[in-house]
Amino acid sequence: MTQAEFARPDWQVGQLAPLALGQDDVEGPVLSEEARALAERIVDRYPTSRSALLPLLYLVQSEAGWVPRQGMREVAEILRLSTAEVEAVATFYTMLKLHPSGRYVISVCTNPSCTLRGARKTYLRARELLGEDAERMTPDGMFTLEEEECLAACDKAPVVAVNYVFYDQVDEGAVEQIIEGIREGRVPEAPRGAGVPGDLRDVSRTLAGLGTTPSPKAGPDG
Ligand code: FES
Repeated sequence: MTQAEFARPDWQVGQLAPLALGQDDVEGPVLSEEARALAERIVDRYPTSRSALLPLLYLVQSEAGWVPRQGMREVAEILRLSTAEVEAVATFYTMLKLHPSGRYVISVCTNPSCTLRGARKTYLRARELLGEDAERMTPDGMFTLEEEECLAACDKAPVVAVNYVFYDQVDEGAVEQIIEGIREGRVPEAPRGAGVPGDLRDVSRTLAGLGTTPSPKAGPDG
């Protein structure tokens, strides 16, 4: 099969996050002393230490704001796993960000149900408002924009998630309100009782099993 045959179809409008590991890394330890102590507490919850792999990767994300390769190495060392084993998990879950990401990750579902209900326009409006850099991270570090696979809420299409909290029937106007709200420090409340999403580090801390911490205010100066 030629490279052209692998080209993305027309309806897929966003920049897929590159999986080329090795480009995105940091120097020096990612986990602070305090975070290492938390890591031990997390590991102790499980009968088998490797079961703590996902929570520890979220712990890395809560510390760094994303998951650099150095963070994977530290998790491998704590769990006595190979870096390949850690990398295999980290690259599978799209909620783990493998490149520097904004404090608010806006995920637009572009699978068929959402696309049929206008997700392409929603995505393009978001990209217009945030700029193309947002497909990795906006220069102010506030936003990452991405396409997402089916978010399992097809009856509410088109669905948009902000740091994994879902917003229903998000058309161009609604995505504009969400983005403007975050910019102004008024992150809109999500329907269905999901509340107001915290920033990515805060949400990652929760996903690591460490409960919630007060979410810093939105806005570039946070
Ligand atoms: S196709 Fe978008 S939520 Fe299922």
